[in-house]
Amino acid sequence: MAFPTETVYGLGANALEGRAVARIFEAKGRPRFNPLIVHVASLDEARAFGEFTAEAEALARAFWPGPLTLVLPRREGTGLSDLVSAGLPTVALRVPAHDGARALIAAAGVPVAAPSANRSGQVSATAAAHVEGDFGADVDMILDGGPCTAGIESSIVALTEDAAPVLLRAGGVAREGLEDVLGQPLLSPGGGSGGAVGKPQAPGMLTSHYAPRAGVRLNADAPLPGEAFLAFGPMSAPPTNASDATFLNLSESGHLREAAANLFAHLRALDASGAPVIAVAPVPYEGLGEAINDRLRRAAAPRDKPDGDV
Ligand code: TXA
Ligand code: MG
Repeated sequence: MAFPTETVYGLGANALEGRAVARIFEAKGRPRFNPLIVHVASLDEARAFGEFTAEAEALARAFWPGPLTLVLPRREGTGLSDLVSAGLPTVALRVPAHDGARALIAAAGVPVAAPSANRSGQVSATAAAHVEGDFGADVDMILDGGPCTAGIESSIVALTEDAAPVLLRAGGVAREGLEDVLGQPLLSPGGGSGGAVGKPQAPGMLTSHYAPRAGVRLNADAPLPGEAFLAFGPMSAPPTNASDATFLNLSESGHLREAAANLFAHLRALDASGAPVIAVAPVPYEGLGEAINDRLRRAAAPRDKPDGDV
């Protein structure tokens, strides 16, 4: 079943039941090497499944419930399905803030494994109608909690005793806020400042993702003839070459929080206009801008590789 969270809609299953978890992979068309986030009701419950370092405790206290996922060493013998971790010795844990998500977890009485409720590789869903459009009858039930307020997926931080904290995915909690609590900079996946070697540590964070049907052209000051235009900042009417049907603004007032909340819905709407390319205005990198730019870069990436998903 699909359910709302403050970030994006999730496609949930009992994380203790291998067969239920397997159905998520099937419905999404998600590769089995890509693990799932386990959603729980509280920090106490999360401690039962993952080994918390002091830094993990500090982040959880500061940002849970909310758009933060912690990747921690997995405890043995908890009954969690092995599939949720896709063979890794770690587990991704999150306590969502959305009332609908919390009610679902409470009613289920079990940890809920859930990826974003979109087909693998495509744009995430921030409204019940997006989920319905993507899955139709393949999802038996959608809990409609209205549009997601944060609109961009959780930030993912990996924490183990023997390594410095790594920001596996920029998301709904800005890097600056996380680093303030940790008192140290977050590393990038692969170690150091971004030069990744070896296996990606968030298997879903591969290049092409969040891809609409249309091509995506980044850092565009204006649309070319035939292109749709996704603006950021003061611009209330379609520019030359765009029309009402092919123009949307992430945030006219230039607010990154508003832009994050609008990002996926606007990409979907402009995609539906049928334009072959969506040109996107530059978005600043600070705060939530890191996550917004990350998603836009993946939306614009070449799609010829059979990539993993988020
Ligand atoms: O906001 C969110 O995080 C949403 C809502 C539904 O909670 N969920 C979400 O799930 O974005 P998903 O599956 O679309 O993205 C989860 C990411 C994937 O890139 C996956 O590879 C990574 O988390 N991940 C999950 N478990 C992991 C683990 N044990 N180690 C490293 N990465 C992990
Ligand atoms: Mg996803």
